[in-house]
Amino acid sequence: SDIEKGMYPHFMLKEMDEQPGVIRKILQAYENEQGELAMDENIVNAFNEADRLYIIAAGTSYHAGLIGKHYFEKIAGIPVEVHISSEFGYNMPLLSEKPLFLFITQSGETADSRQVLVKIKALGYPSITLTNATGSTLSREADHTLLLYAGPEIAVASTKAYTAQVAVLAIAAYVVAKKRGKTVEIDLKKELAITANAIQTLVDSKEEMEQIAHEFLAVSRNAFFIGRNLDYYVSLEGALKVKEISYIQAEGFAGGELKHGTIALIEEGTPVFAIVTQQAVSLNTRGNVKEVVARGANPCILSMEGLEEENDRFVLPKVHALLTPLVAVIPLQLISYYAALHRGCDVDKPRNLAKSVTVE
Ligand code: G6P
Repeated sequence: SDIEKGMYPHFMLKEMDEQPGVIRKILQAYENEQGELAMDENIVNAFNEADRLYIIAAGTSYHAGLIGKHYFEKIAGIPVEVHISSEFGYNMPLLSEKPLFLFITQSGETADSRQVLVKIKALGYPSITLTNATGSTLSREADHTLLLYAGPEIAVASTKAYTAQVAVLAIAAYVVAKKRGKTVEIDLKKELAITANAIQTLVDSKEEMEQIAHEFLAVSRNAFFIGRNLDYYVSLEGALKVKEISYIQAEGFAGGELKHGTIALIEEGTPVFAIVTQQAVSLNTRGNVKEVVARGANPCILSMEGLEEENDRFVLPKVHALLTPLVAVIPLQLISYYAALHRGCDVDKPRNLAKSVTVE
């Protein structure tokens, strides 16, 4: 590959480090001459004309899509469904009158996602591909393309593409909300710039993350990630990272679901990572932590500044409540990286996985 690792031992580490820069690049790319957040007018119109957005994606991109749903519904007031590409084909939902399909795909080559694009094009529906790869199959075949500007992502485990996807989804929701004349509470440009700095602080906290990885994931067979609301979506992504590169059986789920099954798996010493960035549900998640601790779990609470309590393992720098996924995911990426390293796994090329999967 002509992309070099430079001083980095792994592409994944390099790509995690690039994340603050990627957010800043995105802020520049989606800015008009007046310095306001903006994007291609045709794309804004396509979103604006839709009565419902159907997000189609796989893997990490699907997890970004879940956050995208939150943004489009809360900021722009457009109803959204998020679907796993491979399921959509045979389990097609009833569609609204004016659907718009948004394909989220880092590579732009995922066959599962492409089969959906082929299907909905045949039905005459409009489409946008949000991708990191200009000229990729899904970019060429969709009506419009939104770019991630993350630069080539080589490590199989996606990191900077995920944060780029979340940032561009926030910008898209914001720009469409403005177009619709909605009152938008967040100064997104300013808050994303603050978030880029917060991400920098986190990628500079590697020693701390390495220590957490050793403490919680050095020998464990399994690990659980819990959160509520946006923290739930980040939990899913954290668990996926850990599974992909350290081969620890990891599960992310909504805190409230613990009691409906998963709590049966908690044993003496089971690591449970809890994400606490959402004020409205922080006490509920902390309640879940108490439940697992009572059954012997080893808890690792990652909370946001302002919501922290005494025994939290790590405090995340404060960012706007809508943008917390962009910071909460960083420690989870780093922890999974160090867990994989410690366990002697091939970080950049984990077994059985491919960077882009071009078969259905
Ligand atoms: C593969 C990769 C994942 C990725 C998924 C979707 O399974 O290993 O990291 O999230 O494909 O890829 P895409 O390029 O469509 O985002």
